[in-house]
Amino acid sequence: MNAIEKYRRYVNTNSLKKVVPIVIERAEGTTVWDENGRPYLDFFSGISVVNAGHNRREIIEAAAAQMQRLVHCNSYLYHNQPTADLAEALASIMPSPELRVSFFGSSGAEAMEGAMRLAKQFTGRTEFVALEMSFHGRTVGTLSVSGNCRRKKKGGPYLPGVAFAAVPYPYRSPFGSDPATCACVCARDVERTIDLHTSGDVAAFIAEPVMGEGGIIVPPPGYFRAVKEVLERRGILFVCDEVQTGFGRTGEMLAIEHYGVVPDIIVTAKGIANGFPLSAFTTREEIAEAFRPGDHLSTFGGNPVSCAAALANIDLFRRERLVERAKDQGKRLLDQLRNLAEKHEIIGEVRGLGLMIGVELVTDRIQKTPAGEIAERVQDCLLEEGILIGVGGTYGNVLRLQPPLVIADQDADRMVIALDRALQRVVTSVK
Ligand SMILES: Cc1ncc(COP(=O)(O)O)c(C=O)c1O
Repeated sequence: MNAIEKYRRYVNTNSLKKVVPIVIERAEGTTVWDENGRPYLDFFSGISVVNAGHNRREIIEAAAAQMQRLVHCNSYLYHNQPTADLAEALASIMPSPELRVSFFGSSGAEAMEGAMRLAKQFTGRTEFVALEMSFHGRTVGTLSVSGNCRRKKKGGPYLPGVAFAAVPYPYRSPFGSDPATCACVCARDVERTIDLHTSGDVAAFIAEPVMGEGGIIVPPPGYFRAVKEVLERRGILFVCDEVQTGFGRTGEMLAIEHYGVVPDIIVTAKGIANGFPLSAFTTREEIAEAFRPGDHLSTFGGNPVSCAAALANIDLFRRERLVERAKDQGKRLLDQLRNLAEKHEIIGEVRGLGLMIGVELVTDRIQKTPAGEIAERVQDCLLEEGILIGVGGTYGNVLRLQPPLVIADQDADRMVIALDRALQRVVTSVK
C-alpha cells in the first residue's frame, strides 16, 4: 500500500474537503518534491509555517545537535538552556521591551487558550470580544472566539460570554469600502459590541492583525489604534493572535507593528520554529504574575529541540534580513497581481501585506458573488503546473499566496504567469 492508500484506510481525513493527491517526500528552500521526484514550487509554506524556507541547514543542524543532547524532560518541571535562550530571544523581537515573559506550548490553539486564561485571571473578568470572520484554532475555547460558522458547525455548544464585533474588511464592509471610514466605524463597533452584547465583564479583545483563514483581510490603517483607545478606557486587554502573521510574514517581524500599537499579550506559533512544533504567548511581567502555582503547564511546550530550532530560525532572520525581503518581494508581487486584476474580471480584489497575499475571486464585480468553485479549480490548474497555493476565506473564494520569505524573483514571476494562464483556462471553461 502506498501512502495515499494508507491515508484512505488509516488516517481520518473525513474533516477535510480534500487532501491533495501527492506524496511529499522532501523539500528545500521554496521547492518540495513528490515521491516520483517531481518538483513543486511551494506558495503556501505548509500553511504559512516554513517562512525561512524548507529544511534550512542551520535550523536542522541546531535541532539535530540538541537532539543528541536532550529531546525532552519537560521544560516546566526543570530548566533547560534552549528554552531559556529562546524566551530571551522572543523578548528581543517584541514591539515593546515590556513584553518580556513567555509561556510555551506546541500549537497555536494551545497558546491562544493559555492567553485567554491568563487574560481572565489578570483582569478577574470572564468575557471576550472577538471579530467576525476571525479564526483562532480548533479547540472548543478557540472556536468559541472564532467568528466563522463554517468552522464551528456541529461542534457546539461553545463558551458563553463571547461577542463579535464588525470585521474591518473594506471590500465587503456594510459601511462602505472607504478604508478610513471602515477603520473608524469598525473600531466604534468594538465599543458598541462591549456596550450592547456583553455584560461589561470583558477580559480581552482578541484579534489577528491580518486575518488569515478569513481570507487575508487587512484591517485599514488606524483601526487598531482606535480600538486600543477604547480598550484602555475600559481596562480590557488586547490579545493579539500573531500565529499566522508573525515571523516576518507581513514584512514586519510581527504584523501589529504596521499599526503602531502594543498589545498586552502576543501569541506566536507556526513560523516560530520553521516547522518544528512550538508556540508561545508573551506578555508583561505584571500580567504573567496572574498565573499562580498549579494554574498552567504543557507537557511538550517549550520542547528543547523546537526551541533550539527557533533560536537558529531567529538568527537566520537577522542574518538574511528575511523581514525586509518579505516586504520587498511582497510589494513586487502585489504590483504584478494588481496588473493581473486589470485583465481578469474574475478578480474582485488583490490585497495583502508583505508575503501574506490574497486574491479574492468573484463571479461579478458589482454583487461580489464569491467564486469558490472557480478558486478551487484555479488551485488544481496551478497544481498541474507544479505550483502549490492555498484556497480559503470565509466564502472559500480567496487564493492564498504565502510562499517562504526567501522566494526568488523568477519563482514569483513564474507563479504570476501560471496564475494568469490558470485564470484564463478556468474562466473560459465555465463560459
Ligand atoms: C490566526 C490563527 N490562530 C490560531 C491558529 C491555530 O493554530 P494551530 O493549528 O497551530 O493550533 C491558526 C491556524 O491556522 C491561525 O491561523
